[in-house]
Amino acid sequence: MIANGKPKVNVEGGKLAKKFPKNILSKIKTWHIFLSLGLFSVVLGYISVAPPTDLPSWPLYRLNSKVWQSFENWGKHVKPYHIRVMTTAVQHLESRALYMITYLNVPDILHRVEKPLSCEELKELVDQESGLEPISLPFLCRILHAASHFDILQEAHEHKYDLTPLSQYLVASHPRSLKHYVLLYAGDESLVISTALSRSLYSGLSGFKETYRKELLPQLKEDPVFREIYDRGLGDSSRLHAPAIIADYPPFSSCKHICDIGGGMGSFLHEVLTYYAHGIEGTNFDLPDVITNAKGFLKGKADGAKINLIAGNFTKQLPKTSCDCFILKDILQNWSDEDAALILSNLYGVVNKGNRVLVIETILHTGSFSEERLKSLMDLTMMAFNPSHSRLRTEEEIYFLLEQSGFVEAQTYPTRAGYSIVEAFPTKS
Ligand SMILES: C[S@@+](CC[C@H](N)C(=O)[O-])C[C@H]1O[C@@H](n2cnc3c(N)ncnc32)[C@H](O)[C@@H]1O
Repeated sequence: MIANGKPKVNVEGGKLAKKFPKNILSKIKTWHIFLSLGLFSVVLGYISVAPPTDLPSWPLYRLNSKVWQSFENWGKHVKPYHIRVMTTAVQHLESRALYMITYLNVPDILHRVEKPLSCEELKELVDQESGLEPISLPFLCRILHAASHFDILQEAHEHKYDLTPLSQYLVASHPRSLKHYVLLYAGDESLVISTALSRSLYSGLSGFKETYRKELLPQLKEDPVFREIYDRGLGDSSRLHAPAIIADYPPFSSCKHICDIGGGMGSFLHEVLTYYAHGIEGTNFDLPDVITNAKGFLKGKADGAKINLIAGNFTKQLPKTSCDCFILKDILQNWSDEDAALILSNLYGVVNKGNRVLVIETILHTGSFSEERLKSLMDLTMMAFNPSHSRLRTEEEIYFLLEQSGFVEAQTYPTRAGYSIVEAFPTKS
């Protein structure tokens, strides 16, 4: 509209024109807006879309680690030092509360009834289910109350307790349940073994050996009840970490036949083969009694029976197979340098040119401060449980062991599970 010979601008247009000079506004084209929206969606998608299950994307994982680290550092300086000393001194009681809540199946009960329960209601259900001696009501109420301060439970209205995002992982039916991991590592056995560490300090023997006068493996052979707790606990941890390890080592897809050496019950191999649906053959190798248990375990799994099982001893001899990829997951860390080199030399004896060996374990000094803190806790757990000479190694130490045994071109793939994958090839022509 023309008024007095001048174009009339409405109020909105006038404001906009003040903020964005006319020459800039006139340069913005529709395709600029669409391109920006497109780029924004791609970036957002890349950051937020998680590959398998609940795995965060790499950028989000890195961002989370940084934020987590900053909060931890900030918390360190904000919390008075005497409070930190006092809470660390009794930290094992937090672990005890976690254990007791899990052992009494409180998370399973809350998950099943789908509503918050009072401590009286929980006591009744716990007693009914256990069929054992009734538990003390006042003690249960105090433990539940404490657990609500540790984020294990939350106190809903009218003094009733409910699950938290943390305790969802204590429910047996959760796809990534850590129930058996807690029963193993926070259990009574574990406490006894950890207590023995003050003697280990003088003897240089594991907490396990100090307690039982023998190392973990011979004890597992003689104690089927502890064997089951141990296998289930390790199975939880393996299932939890498998998606990240599989997603962060895309070359798995080019394996035709994978041998998992010391693969335990075969749960990790089963996850890999399930992910690559029928495309890869699998062989699980372990000690004879473990292979007997693995048979039963894999029978209950879809396609589990398709995994070949071979019993033997990797410190003596490995079988000749048609495998082109060989996994050693959580193996070398349990052996001294001499024995680890012996296992790798035995492996070298059965691999062919172009085959791959994948050492999958927790490697020191590769992650953020928070990751390294968890690794230190794991190192202490190993001092308590694993053979006396077991230890976590650095990347250089693992490369050195591989090279000594004839494997070269080592390179490391980090994963979003705290684990690293070291890939190497035999020097065979
Ligand atoms: C820490 S577990 C790791 C299991 C599996 N790789 C995983 O990551 O879940 C160590 C495995 O090595 C096996 N193992 C120990 N000594 C062995 C030997 N001499 N020969 C074959 N397997 C052995 C154990 O039975 C056990 O299953």
